[in-house]
Amino acid sequence: MGLMRKLAEQLSQPRGSWGQVVGVFLGRLNRPANEWTLKLLEIQPADRVLEVGFGPGVGIQEAAKLASRGWVAGVDFSETMVEQATRRNAALIATGRVELRYGDVSSLPDNDDTFDRVFGVNVIYPWREPVATLKELRRVMKPGGRIALYFVDKEDMKLWHPPADLVTLYSGPEVARLLAEAGFHEARFVIKKRWFWNGVCALAEK
Ligand SMILES: C[S@@+](CC[C@H](N)C(=O)[O-])C[C@H]1O[C@@H](n2cnc3c(N)ncnc32)[C@H](O)[C@@H]1O
Repeated sequence: MGLMRKLAEQLSQPRGSWGQVVGVFLGRLNRPANEWTLKLLEIQPADRVLEVGFGPGVGIQEAAKLASRGWVAGVDFSETMVEQATRRNAALIATGRVELRYGDVSSLPDNDDTFDRVFGVNVIYPWREPVATLKELRRVMKPGGRIALYFVDKEDMKLWHPPADLVTLYSGPEVARLLAEAGFHEARFVIKKRWFWNGVCALAEK
């Protein structure tokens, strides 16, 4: 199996001891993207927040600082990442302010209209049915709630030649269109240059 394929598999769903290493790497590499996404999300102290594909749990930890009187839930379908993020957020989990679940974002256990804010950082590429998944996220959001999805722009990702059967690459307008198709309002995107790639954050409201 090619190196790029193995890497794409690990980034899409980190597993085993290599997954642990990938998690440590993601925790450092993606911290600025998580911080930027959370800034755009404008979390309020009493908000109920959901992170999809939390990986090593850096975004969960930062979101919990902002939702200081609220509640932060996360879902990830990598057992390795659930373990790593649980270790990172053990103190917050013990207080009941954070809840991390193992599961697929396409089918959430939450009631309709639960969350004020939903976010995901570098998580959309392996989604097989992005509009259906976004509809599921919209279902669990309160009316007026905001979603923020960060990803690296298609043109920059193309340089890595990721396997097309495993990941789908997106531009800002494409994700804004998917959000609108899923029923969100005010779908838009902003771009931030980092080193040699453009980070894109797509935003919308329910
Ligand atoms: C590239 S990592 C990014 C992790 C983290 N958001 C960060 O900023 O470092 C993508 C994560 O999303 C998770 N993921 C991808 N698709 C998922 C899905 N359909 N359901 C749940 N988790 C998913 C993977 O298991 C992985 O932990």
